[in-house]
This record gives sequence, structure tokens and C-alpha cells, in this order.
Amino acid sequence: MIKVKALGNMTSSKKPTRLRKVASMSRPLLYPFYLLFGFFSLLSGIQSDDLQILMKLKSTLLQTSNTIAFISWESSISMCNFTGIICNSDGSVTEIELSYQNLTGILPLDSICQLQSLEKLSFGFNNLHGPIMDDLKNCVRLQYLDLGNNLFTGWSVPEISSLSQLRYLHLNASGFSGIFPWKSLQNMTGLVQLSLGDNPFNPSPFPNEVLQLTNLTWLYLSNCNIQGTIPAEIGNLKELINLELADNNMTGKIPVEIGNLVNLWQLELYNNSFTGKLPVGLRNLTKLEMFDFSWNNLEGDLFELRFLNNLASLQLFQNELSGQVPAEFGEFTKLVNLSLFGNSFTGPLPQNLGSCSKTNLIDVADNFFTGSIPPDMCKQGTMKWLIVFENYLTGEIPASYANCSTLRQFMVNNNSLSGKVPMGIWGLPNVIIIDISLNDLEGPITSDIKNAKSLTYLLAGNNRLSGELPTAISEAASLKSIKLNDNTLAGKIPYMICNVSFLEILDISNNSLSGKIPECLGNFSGHLRVMDLRMNNLCGAIPNTFAKGNQLRTLVFNDNNLEGLFPISLINCTNLEVLDLGNNMINDFFPYWLEYLPNLKVLVLKSNRFRGPIGNHNRRGMFFSELHILDLSYNEFTGPLPINYFENFNAMAINDEGKLEPQYMGEVKYYQDSVVVTLKGLEIKLQRILTIFTTIDLSNNKFRGEIPEVLGRLTILRSLNLSHNSLTGHIPSSLAYLSALESLDLSSNRLIGKIPMQLTSLTFLAMLNLSRNQLTGPIPQGNQFGTFENNSYDGNLGLCGFPLSSKCGTNELTQPAPPSTFQEDNDSLFASGFGWKAVSIGYGCGLLFGLAMGYVVFKIRKPKWLVRFIEGKQKGKKRRPNNQRPGQRRN
Ligand SMILES: *[C@@H]1O[C@H](CO)[C@@H](O)[C@H](O)[C@H]1NC(C)=O
Ligand SMILES: *[C@@H]1O[C@H](CO)[C@@H](O)[C@H](O)[C@H]1NC(C)=O
Ligand SMILES: *[C@@H]1O[C@H](CO)[C@@H](O)[C@H](O)[C@H]1NC(C)=O
Ligand SMILES: *[C@@H]1O[C@H](CO)[C@@H](O)[C@H](O)[C@H]1NC(C)=O
Ligand SMILES: *[C@@H]1O[C@H](CO)[C@@H](O)[C@H](O)[C@H]1NC(C)=O
Ligand SMILES: *[C@@H]1O[C@H](CO)[C@@H](O)[C@H](O)[C@H]1NC(C)=O
Ligand SMILES: *[C@@H]1O[C@H](CO)[C@@H](O)[C@H](O)[C@H]1NC(C)=O
Ligand SMILES: *[C@@H]1O[C@H](CO)[C@@H](O)[C@H](O)[C@H]1NC(C)=O
Ligand SMILES: *[C@@H]1O[C@H](CO)[C@@H](O)[C@H](O)[C@H]1NC(C)=O
Repeated sequence: MIKVKALGNMTSSKKPTRLRKVASMSRPLLYPFYLLFGFFSLLSGIQSDDLQILMKLKSTLLQTSNTIAFISWESSISMCNFTGIICNSDGSVTEIELSYQNLTGILPLDSICQLQSLEKLSFGFNNLHGPIMDDLKNCVRLQYLDLGNNLFTGWSVPEISSLSQLRYLHLNASGFSGIFPWKSLQNMTGLVQLSLGDNPFNPSPFPNEVLQLTNLTWLYLSNCNIQGTIPAEIGNLKELINLELADNNMTGKIPVEIGNLVNLWQLELYNNSFTGKLPVGLRNLTKLEMFDFSWNNLEGDLFELRFLNNLASLQLFQNELSGQVPAEFGEFTKLVNLSLFGNSFTGPLPQNLGSCSKTNLIDVADNFFTGSIPPDMCKQGTMKWLIVFENYLTGEIPASYANCSTLRQFMVNNNSLSGKVPMGIWGLPNVIIIDISLNDLEGPITSDIKNAKSLTYLLAGNNRLSGELPTAISEAASLKSIKLNDNTLAGKIPYMICNVSFLEILDISNNSLSGKIPECLGNFSGHLRVMDLRMNNLCGAIPNTFAKGNQLRTLVFNDNNLEGLFPISLINCTNLEVLDLGNNMINDFFPYWLEYLPNLKVLVLKSNRFRGPIGNHNRRGMFFSELHILDLSYNEFTGPLPINYFENFNAMAINDEGKLEPQYMGEVKYYQDSVVVTLKGLEIKLQRILTIFTTIDLSNNKFRGEIPEVLGRLTILRSLNLSHNSLTGHIPSSLAYLSALESLDLSSNRLIGKIPMQLTSLTFLAMLNLSRNQLTGPIPQGNQFGTFENNSYDGNLGLCGFPLSSKCGTNELTQPAPPSTFQEDNDSLFASGFGWKAVSIGYGCGLLFGLAMGYVVFKIRKPKWLVRFIEGKQKGKKRRPNNQRPGQRRN
């Protein structure tokens, strides 16, 4: 600020001198002399004034890097030879071109605009800040003004209607806000380029002033808060070559008058809310090369685009477009990028698509395309991104793709492709992602995979691939993910897999792999996070080589023939969240030291040969406080239920999700934790695990003693199965606090006494099994208890009341409170909980149940952004959203 003031004073003291000189010329007698003298002095006066202005400019602005312009601005050098300065033949400054100079500071426009001949002022791509002084209006000769790409954050653009000579106005991406002085544009009829985009201006409709600027060739108003429709008068701007209105909040139909803009080369309207069809006039725009209407709500077909055969980039993704892709697209000889994903296109792709152009990118994913993959998309040797996933494509992967050495992403997943994967696909030298999963493809993974030096994501699950896992895979040294689940691979897991040193995800589940788990897998270099070997024929002991500092987060060996002891080195897996060793033959005591894994969320040891007591020791600590899913069923555990664990299962007790949308457990790119649980009597595979999902299954063991009251603290537990044990005593009334409980199975124990009345408050309870105990007295009535059938109570000879046929005697109907200190302590709490439940019953119990379970089991649709990205960066020049805008997707 001080600098500006000082400068202002100096220039204003200068100004009178020059005025005096000019005034002195009016003396007639001395005219010739004065003329001559005056001319020279005027000349040198102008120059010295201009020089001083430039020197002030130099001293006002700071250059943060010394590589640049101001170095040459020295008194030893003529001003007109300064870098960035151009003078006219009089020697006065006409142009200042100082873009990309790393300049910071406030532009001293009060002095700059005293440069009498200044026609061009270019300060784009610097770090200048505001304010923009009103003095700008004095730069009346300016034809070119570029202050774009600076940091005028929070400042507005002053009124500039006096700049009537302007032909180029670039103020884009400079942080300008407030109301733009659209009226100022009225006088600028000569304007050729207007670039105001990427500024957070106040919302405004499309400015009518712009519609008068018939010389415009370049109009950039993207991302500056324009609302409403495009006026039909846009058709007046016949000279337009580039029209960009993207990233605004524009609505309505695209006017047919756009068809008058026959010179358009680039038309960008993406990320608005335009509706309706692609207008008829579009066919006129035969010079169009860049066309982007993505992220709108457009419908209808692509008929109007058939003849736009100069198109190089055609982006229409995320609309509601339908119909077939015109065959003419296959003839477009300049087509480089075609992005149609996320629409409702049908029919086959043009079979010569990409065959006669140097195509880089074809993305037609998430449509309803049928037919086969066009055979020649790689023909020109330029294809990099070939993305056709989630369609209904059939036939084979064209053999020619094996020569597609430029290919970086090959994503054909989730179609109905069949036949062998052509030799050579595995070994494409530049490919980063191969995703062929969810098809019907066959054949082996060939050892040419060793050539795939860039291959990072090998995703081929859910096919019919056969043969062995080639040892050569170890030479694909960039691999981070290997997903070959749900195939028919056989043979051993090659030891060499451990040489894939950056591997993060190894999912080879549900194949026919046999032999031992390579010892080295436990002792892998520090990157492996997921090892999913479930559903194979692996045998022998689990290697006891898990090294300190490993990153393992998910370890799933379920459903193999593993035997021997539980590997104690697992204690080194301090990041472990999911440990699933179910359905093996592991023969050991309960690995109590798992208590110390601070992040363990899922522990499944079901159907092994574990034995002995669990918990109930004297140690203190936060045991299993993150645990959500515990399944120890079908083992031979003995002793009382682990009270001290129940006391610590905080993740089942505290609903820390708040009101947030429930999250899925551990999302790693291309891998999703999943687990099989028994719920309501059915084995269900949770494809993804919601963090709000909690269950305890201790069934089919030899647990003895009473069901502890403390279970009542696990208030967000969804399912509790203690059946097929030898439990005795009463059912604790504290179970009534498990207000999220949907399934309760206490069957086949030796429980006695009455069913606590309070259980009627469990309004989500959809499954209750108390059969085969020694319960007595009346069955509670009301709420969910009206929905349970006889088999919930079978084999308890002392129970009476609905739904059983044995009526209760009158003295049985008044139930005494069960002996319980817990209940007394928390009576008021219980009562308040009850009120809430009474409200929710009003919606109908069955409905509530359906909603809750549906959420857990069926909300497994994968968001698009999980499966699609281009080398970690944005695809194309669009920002890729983190989530889908509602209403923009077909479902
Ligand atoms: C500018 O520099 C060139 C040499 O680089 C010189 O020939 C010319 O005279 C200089 N012009 C002025 C006006 O000083
Ligand atoms: C933004 O302004 C700069 C000048 O600072 C110009 O080079 C660039 O092309 C403009 N961008 C757009 C999209 O108009
Ligand atoms: C769409 O435009 C809005 C501004 O209108 C912007 O905030 C948002 O990030 C843009 N979305 C995408 C996907 O670029
Ligand atoms: C095509 O452009 C011509 C001007 O070249 C115009 O007269 C005609 O109306 C346009 N057609 C459509 C459908 O917009
Ligand atoms: C496969 O695509 C269908 C639609 O074609 C979709 O509903 C389904 O969720 C996709 N499957 C996966 C695993 O992405
Ligand atoms: C595998 O890795 C080890 C050391 O990490 C190295 O000595 C060996 O040569 C590698 N084997 C192959 C075939 O690359
Ligand atoms: C882990 O591997 C290293 C060699 O990479 C070896 O020296 C070490 O003994 C192994 N540790 C275990 C526990 O197997
Ligand atoms: C409880 O576990 C037993 C097996 O131990 C199973 O048969 C039963 O279906 C389970 N109950 C529920 C409600 O899932
Ligand atoms: C095509 O897309 C690629 C990747 O998104 C991009 O780098 C390239 O500039 C695009 N080419 C054209 C002509 O749009």
C-alpha cells in the first residue's frame, strides 16, 4: 500500500511538466523553432516519462524468480529494448507483455494508464493481487487486456466502458468476484475475444450485452455462475470459433440457433443441466472439432452429429442419450477421443470405429451396447484407452488387440465376452490396467505377461481362466493388484509371486489352487495389504512368517484344507482388519493374543478345530474394541461366554456413525472386503461390509454357564447366535437394549425361566429362535412377537400363549421381573428407549425389517469412480466427480 501511494504522488508531480511543455508550443513567432525543439523535447519527454513509469512498474512488482524480464530493465539499455516492451516508431511504449513472469504485487494502473500510446497490457499467468484500480478506465487506447490467471481473489472488476477500443479481454481464472460490469461491454463492439470464465462472479443470467458483440470469435464464460438458458440470439455471434459455457448452472434446451454458428471449432457446454435433444442445427457445424456436452440431462439420439466428420473430440458422457451410435462415426478420420459412457445407447458399435483415425480414447462404458468389440480400434497404432465395461458385448476379444502396444487401459469388464483371451494381451508393453473381469473368457494366463512391464492392475476375476498361475508374473514388476478370483486356475501358487515387490492386493480366491501357501507370502515386502486365498484347495499349515511392519489389512484363507497351529506371527499384522480363517482344520486354542490387534474388525474362525476357553482371563486392556463381526461357530470352545470381551466390544456398543451415510469397510482400489455370515438361518455373502453391520455367532460350541447381562451393552448388534451350546440360566432382560437386533438365536441350550417381556421392544427383530430350551411361562405379546411362529419356541414344554396352542393360566399372565440388577440400574434409560421404539412401530414392523436388511445385504452397487480412472489422474480434461450427481445417472 505504501509503495502505491508514493508512486502515485511522484507521477502526479511529473504530469504538470509535460503539460507546460505542450502549452508553450502555441507561441506563433517562435513556431518553427519551438516546433523542432518541442518535437525533440516532447519525444524525449515522452520517453523519459514512459521510462519512469516502467521503472516504477519494475519497483512496484516483485519477481519471485529472477530468471525473467526485469533483468534487462536497466538504465544502460534503451527502454524499447526491455524484455516485454514494444514501442511505436515515436519511441513510446505501446505494448507491455509480461505474462508468465512470476510477478506479485498490485498493478500500479494509475501510472501505467498514463502511458499515452499503450495498446496492449498483458499480465496473464502471474500472481498479481487486487484491487484493480479504477484508473484502468484511463487506458482508453487499450486493444488487448489480459489480467487472466492471477490472484485477484475477492476483488471485483471495475467499470471499464471507456475501453471502447478493446478487442481482446482476458480476465479468466483470476479470482474475480462480485457483479461483473456487463454494461461495460456495450461499447466494446470490436471485441474479438472475451474470456471471463473460471471466476466466482455472482450468479447472473446469460448477459445480453454479449449478444451484441458480433465480432466475437472466442467466448469463454465457463465456470462463472451463469444461470438460465442460452438465448436464441446466440445465433447472432456468427464469427464464433470457440464457445465455452461449461461448469455453469444453465438449464433448458440448447437453442437451434446454435446451428448458425457455422465457424465453430470448439463447443463446450459440459456440466450444466441442459435438457432436451441435441438440436437440429448442430448438423450445420461441420467445422467442429471439439465438442463436449457431458454431464447434462440430454436425451435422444446422435443423429444430428452424423456429418460432423471433423470431430476430433466428442464427449457426451453422463447424459440420458439413447439410440444407436451412427455408423458414420466409424468414418470420422480425425476422431481422437470418443466418450459416451453413462448413457443408454443400444445396438452395436460401428464396426469400423477407430479404424481410420488416430484414436486415443474410446470410452463407451455403462451403456446397453450389444454386438462385438470393433476389431480395428487399435489399427492405427495410437489407441491408449479402450474402455467398454458394463455393456452387453459378446464375441471374442479381437486378436488384433494383442498388437496394440500403445494401449494403457484395457477395460472390457462386465460384458458377455467369450473365447480365449488372445495371446499377447497379457504382455502388452504399455498397458497399465487390464480389466477383463466378469466375462466368460477362457484360456491360460500366458507367460508373455513378463513383457507387461507397466501392468499395475491385473483384473480378470469371474471368468473361466484355467491353467497355472505363471511364474513369469513375477517379472511384471509394476503389479499392484492381482485379482484372478472366481476362475478355474489350478496348480500351486508360484513362490515367485513374492518377487512382485509392490503387490498390494492378491485375490486368487475361488479357484482350484492346491499345495501349500508359499512361506514368503507372510514375509512379503511391505506393501501387501490384501491376501485373499479363500475357496481353494490349499493345504498344510499357514506360514508362520508374518514379519514386523507388514501392511496386511485383510487376510482371508476361508474354505481350504489348512491345518496345524494358528500362526503366532500374525501378531505382527497390527494393521489387520479382516481375519477370516473359517472352514479349515486348524487345531489350536483360541489365539487370545489377537486381542492386541487394535484394528481388527472381522474375525472368523468358524468350522475349525479350535478348543478350550476364550476370554475371561484377568488381563486388562481394550480387547477387540473395533470388532464388528465375530464368528467362532462350529468349534469346540468351552467354558463360560467371554464376558470381558463383551465388555470391550465397543464397536458394537457405540454408534459412532452418527447420522452419516453408512460406510463400507476398507475400500481399496479394486478390492472390497466381503464375508459370508449366517443370518436368519441363511448363509449370506456380504459383498461389501457396512461398518454398521455387527454380528456375534458363537453357535455350535460347548460354552457353558449363563448368558451375561453385559451383552445388553452391545446396542447396535444386528445378530446374535448363541445356539447349540450348553448355556443355562435365564434369558437376561438386558437383551432388550439391543435395539438394532434383527436376529436372535438362543436355541438348543438349557435356558430356563420366562422370556422377558421387555424383548417386545426389539422392533427390528425378524428372526427369533428360542427352541429346544427349558423355558416356561407366557410368550410375550405385541410388536414383532406377533410375527414369530411356533418353531421359534419348539421344544420348550413350559411355554404358553400365542402362537402356541397351549393357553396360559391366569396366574401366568402377570410376569414377575426377572432377577436382575442390571435392569434396575438402567430402568430409566430403558424407558426412554421404549418411547422411541413406539414411534417407529407406527411404520409397520415388517417394513422396517426389510429396509434394514436390504441396506446391509443388497446395497452393494459399485460406484463408478471406484472402477474407472486414468492412471490416477483425471480423465480427459474433465474433473471427475467423487460422487454422482443425483438424477444424472440411469439406474
Ligand atoms: C536495441 O538493441 C539492439 C541490439 O540488440 C540495437 O541494435 C538497437 O540499437 C537497440 N535499440 C535501441 C532503441 O536502443
Ligand atoms: C484464459 O486466459 C488466458 C490468458 O491469460 C488465455 O491464454 C487462455 O486461453 C484463456 N483460457 C480460456 C479457456 O479462454
Ligand atoms: C460442475 O460445475 C460446478 C460449478 O457450476 C462445479 O462446482 C463442479 O465442480 C463441476 N463439476 C464437475 C464434475 O466438474
Ligand atoms: C445452417 O446454417 C445456415 C447459415 O449458414 C442457416 O441459414 C440455417 O438456418 C442453418 N440451419 C440450421 C438447421 O440451423
Ligand atoms: C455389471 O453391469 C451391470 C449392468 O450392466 C450392473 O448392474 C452390475 O452392477 C455390474 N456389476 C459389477 C460387479 O459392477
Ligand atoms: C526374486 O527376488 C530376489 C530378491 O528379491 C532376487 O534375488 C531374484 O533374482 C529374483 N528372481 C527373479 C527371477 O527375478
Ligand atoms: C523374511 O525374509 C528374509 C529375506 O527376505 C529372511 O532373511 C528372513 O529370515 C525371513 N523371515 C522370516 C520370519 O521368515
Ligand atoms: C445359528 O447358528 C446355527 C448353526 O450353529 C444355524 O444353524 C442357525 O441357522 C443360526 N441361526 C440364525 C438365526 O442364523
Ligand atoms: C484425448 O484425450 C486424452 C486423454 O484424456 C488427452 O490427453 C488428449 O489431449 C485428448 N485429445 C483431444 C484431441 O481431445
